[in-house]
Amino acid sequence: MLLLQTSIPVPKDIPLPFPAPEWFLVTILIISFLVHIVFVNLMLGGSLLTLWCQIKGIKNKEYDTLAHEIAKTITVNKSLAVVMGIAPLLTINTLYTVFFYTANSLTGLMWIAIIPLVTVAFLLTYLHKYTWNTFSNNKPIHILIIAFACIIFMIIPLVFFTNVNLMLFPEKWGTIKGFMSALLLPNVFPRYLHFIFASLAVTGLFLFWYVGRKNYDFESIFNQLTRYEVKKKAYSLVLAASVSQFIIGPIVLLTLPSKGLGWNLILVIFTGAIISLPAIFYMYKAIVGKPENINKNFKIVVICLTITVVFMGSGRHIYRANTLNPHIKMISEKTQSFIKESEIARQESAKPQTAVSDKTDSNKGLEIFEQNCAACHAKDEKVVGPPIREMQTIYSNNPSGLKAWIKAPGKKREGYPQMPAFANKLSDSELNQLSNYILTIK
Ligand code: HEC
Repeated sequence: MLLLQTSIPVPKDIPLPFPAPEWFLVTILIISFLVHIVFVNLMLGGSLLTLWCQIKGIKNKEYDTLAHEIAKTITVNKSLAVVMGIAPLLTINTLYTVFFYTANSLTGLMWIAIIPLVTVAFLLTYLHKYTWNTFSNNKPIHILIIAFACIIFMIIPLVFFTNVNLMLFPEKWGTIKGFMSALLLPNVFPRYLHFIFASLAVTGLFLFWYVGRKNYDFESIFNQLTRYEVKKKAYSLVLAASVSQFIIGPIVLLTLPSKGLGWNLILVIFTGAIISLPAIFYMYKAIVGKPENINKNFKIVVICLTITVVFMGSGRHIYRANTLNPHIKMISEKTQSFIKESEIARQESAKPQTAVSDKTDSNKGLEIFEQNCAACHAKDEKVVGPPIREMQTIYSNNPSGLKAWIKAPGKKREGYPQMPAFANKLSDSELNQLSNYILTIK
């Protein structure tokens, strides 16, 4: 029985076709997810930058102003993040229904908690934005508000990561007891760190663009800070965060269970990483170069990093597909055989009562097998005991030997538990039908 618990659960799927071609849903999933995650990056990165600038602003008024400018963008980016999250959430539900729902229910309370958490964080960011003047004489309280929002914004993605990570590993489902144990799976934190640094990089790029816009009257808002200084700081942030990813990225790759690692994945990830190199080079040149050259190559930097992100997003999907495809196959086989069995059962029950005993022996044999043996035996692969194929080779010319074993099994194989005896559970005619079924099934 212990063995049964640790074997991989194979749930039945809902037997409905996809509402659109699979490649189309996958494309929607990858693209809509990337759009969503960029706004999530901006919302989290923006909040963290605001917090940092506001703390620095206690001593230097200019930074308080900068914090205010960044804070104004958080609520917009946050709304877009939420709205843009709907499409990927719906497509992942459609493509990976069984996996996603299982992970959802295993992390139960924490997963549901996302809704109140998002709501509270939403309100906090508005409160923070609209009380800038109210709290101008009480900065610590005001900073506390955005600090709380930051903490919540840091928790929400962690819950998401725990979930989408857990759905990849059906073999772990049996051992997971709530959110905490799912959180502690080895690859959650590296992936999370990877995401946090990406948020800082994306926000740095955003800030660079935001303060550089032509119709943005920087000089009338700030007294000492110059566009150049802010841009240089923004670039330094992007550069530091991007370079860090070259350390965090490999850690993510190494902590991911190897079952999903394939050359297709490695190729996509490495190409993505290489494409970011020109961006890193140009940012470095701009930071150490002359102030008037700071804007040079900004477009190339953005294009390179965007391509990198697209490649990483695709890599993410490839890993998921690599990991889950074998299990998806098992589920669809199980679903098919379930549909077939239900079909047989329906036909049986539609027949008039007297005909019930006319069930073919093979149907009865199947039924007896399903009820007594299927927990441990399958047709082609080992479950707890050997597959039917193996029984057929042993007993093809010896049905009475097979029946004798079923009544009182011996102990044969190393590393297998003892099979229970069925002497008192099955009648002689049932034994005949069962052995007939086992020896004749194709
Ligand atoms: C609780 C799990 C379990 C159940 C239920 C179970 N078996 Fe087994 N069965 C095993 C294991 C384990 C072995 C391997 C035992 C060994 O080799 O020592 C096995 C071995 C066998 C073999 C191979 C015998 C041989 O000579 O090598 C046959 C045939 C078999 N089972 C038939 C059945 C049938 C038919 C049923 C249902 C009536 C059934 N088993 C129910 C666990 C189970």
